[in-house]
Amino acid sequence: MRASFLLATLGAAALAACGNKASTDAPAPTVSAASPAMSASNAAAPPKKVATRPPPREGSALARSANDDALYLADEDHDVVRVIALPFDGAAPPTQKEIPTAGHPAQVLVTQDRVLVTVRDPGELRIFAPDAEKGLIEKGRVAVPGDAWGVAIAPDGKTAIVTSAWANQVSAVDIASAKKLWSVPVSREPRAVVVRPDGLVAYVTHLTGSRVTRIEGLNSATPTVTAVELPPAPARTPSGKTLDAALGYSAALSPDGSRLFAARHAIGALGRTLWGETWYGAPTVDVLVTKIDKPLLEKRTLGMPKARRTEMDMRGKAGLLPTTGADFGAGTQPRAMVYRVSTRTLLVASEGLNQLVEMEADSTAPALSVVRTHDLAASYEKFMHIAVTGGAPSAIALSDDESLAYVFCRSTYDLAVVKLNEAKSQVAVARLAEDTLGKDGSMGRRLFYDATDPVMSGALACNGCHPEGRDDGHVWHEATFGDRTVFFGEPENSPDTLEHDIKGIPRQTPMLVGHVKAQGPYGWKAQAKDLTERLREGFRLHRWSGDMSQPAENEIVSRATFLTVFARKGLVLPPREDRALTAEEQRGKAIFMGEPAHCSKCHDPQTDFTDRAVYPLGHVPPPTGFEDEKTYEFKTPSLIAVGNSGPYFHDGRASTLEFLIESNNDRMGKTNQLSKDDKAALVAYLRTL
Ligand code: HEC
Ligand code: HEC
Repeated sequence: MRASFLLATLGAAALAACGNKASTDAPAPTVSAASPAMSASNAAAPPKKVATRPPPREGSALARSANDDALYLADEDHDVVRVIALPFDGAAPPTQKEIPTAGHPAQVLVTQDRVLVTVRDPGELRIFAPDAEKGLIEKGRVAVPGDAWGVAIAPDGKTAIVTSAWANQVSAVDIASAKKLWSVPVSREPRAVVVRPDGLVAYVTHLTGSRVTRIEGLNSATPTVTAVELPPAPARTPSGKTLDAALGYSAALSPDGSRLFAARHAIGALGRTLWGETWYGAPTVDVLVTKIDKPLLEKRTLGMPKARRTEMDMRGKAGLLPTTGADFGAGTQPRAMVYRVSTRTLLVASEGLNQLVEMEADSTAPALSVVRTHDLAASYEKFMHIAVTGGAPSAIALSDDESLAYVFCRSTYDLAVVKLNEAKSQVAVARLAEDTLGKDGSMGRRLFYDATDPVMSGALACNGCHPEGRDDGHVWHEATFGDRTVFFGEPENSPDTLEHDIKGIPRQTPMLVGHVKAQGPYGWKAQAKDLTERLREGFRLHRWSGDMSQPAENEIVSRATFLTVFARKGLVLPPREDRALTAEEQRGKAIFMGEPAHCSKCHDPQTDFTDRAVYPLGHVPPPTGFEDEKTYEFKTPSLIAVGNSGPYFHDGRASTLEFLIESNNDRMGKTNQLSKDDKAALVAYLRTL
């Protein structure tokens, strides 16, 4: 089995090296065979050098211009769109123009004659025309719900579909008239969007949760929204379970639209990392068959309860190719993905490991069929394992002939160019900009994204659980084994391979942005007197290395110091509408502030809606799959940005704010006397915080 996998890998590599000549032992159809739509457009256009890839209809932070003379980069930390001249070989910093776009540009999408840019705060789709001299000239702006992030375009080139991450909405925009056509509500944190080649259906992936959203009737005034089940990493899921997912930043379609690929993190999936067994889960690319809206790989129902012990066995039964241990770590924190037509592979940017990972798109589990891995970071800092260049790859654009991948590296602000066809991995990197936060903040930023530093974590970075300083919507398990207290995603990930009877106590990931200004204390139980202490505790919880000696004090404190600067200055608050409260919200505010509910007694508006004190609110049994707490007292959490950070409480037992108020039963402030409208008003007010 292993030999045949190696052969397949070599086959694909050799094939890549000699262009796109078809071969029988590896899938490599010519571009025209893969996509009839494309050959039609090729016929109309003058013949190009090599098989031309169709211009992507999905946005990305990095996109190539229609006539191949520039890359456009949405650089949200510098609030500019960079127009970077092509060709670029990475030997020297490229020639670039900066187009200021206040409000944090997120994605760029290039059409025949327009360049569309999503802007997060306030939510907008900006429409530009390319210009040889100025780079870009603005032609229009369309207001869409806040935190506009992902964008895709319908095959007719006329309608753009835009996701609004914080507002939980998806909108359609008519590009010619610069008018919004509709907005529909979807579940939490919609990010990537793709439109099927038939133009009828769009799919949206989410930063939190495992479902994808299907929107049908894009041309109608009232499209229908349905949630589609797409269990993450089914081949690596403990039998009988469905895992939670996070980090669904990216999606791609096969050229004929028959398969949807969703790259994300499967929390609690089984496997190994470069350093040992995985405790947090595994990166995954999950495949949906779009004709029937069903996952390509069904949930495992084999009798296989005892996880890692039987991992090889289980993969054999699932009919998957054997892989190297490293493959499980491949793509840690998948952040961006493109489909490479000429090789039928997917290129995934691994934010945590600073890698570009190429995997077979036709596999039932692409993340288990890694063809090759390109390291983007050429060197690491001496005292911390964080990339000096090529850190946190977050966007990919392919050259016209698909021989080059341009990769934007967000934590070091580099542009990497990767030669995909060379037998030996060739990566050149050039800096585009310096970090706006100065030296300490820059160190903090790089630490925050990097999963390779052995002091901070065993292979999952801060941004893996607190993406963008928000949260993964997950409730982690925390348990003590001997002298170690650690987090794990599911009980099957616990180091106790044989028994699996240690479930751990529940710890819901808190939002960080807007919550880390105070001196302290920190943690759900106010267990850490300040941020440094909480980070020290965190490093231990997610370092996981029983075999590694305790890091030196200065190693911990220096990292905590840099991370504190970044957490306070570098994380960006989600957009809030700048407007007066509505009558309903005013009413909710009065309830919040006044007796008898008196929420403000503990959630003090003067100090970010928390008094940071600890209260015994009355015992509630733990959720299924968790153990009970030793003591039942918790710190008042800050309510900044609480509107979109569910599930709620230390154990995640309230999935929505409505449920939280409804089920409060006078535990936390008196709420039983509130009418239905009062409760709705209180929730409406909470959403404005
Ligand atoms: C495996 C997921 C995970 C990773 C990785 C992770 N965190 Fe957390 N973080 C959590 C959870 C869960 C909590 C709540 C723990 C508690 O309070 O007991 C938390 C709590 C915190 C808190 C306390 C917040 C408060 O309001 O009290 C801070 C600060 C924090 N994390 C920062 C970080 C930083 C910085 C990193 C990277 C070094 C990091 N976290 C990595 C899951 C994670
Ligand atoms: C006695 C102090 C106290 C009062 C009064 C109080 N809270 Fe809380 N609140 C807490 C504590 C402590 C928690 C955390 C409990 C837990 O995690 O189990 C909490 C949690 C919450 C959360 C969940 C936040 C998150 O991120 O998970 C919300 C929302 C909330 N409170 C809203 C309210 C509202 C609305 C009121 C008024 C009706 C109120 N609270 C009154 C102490 C208080």
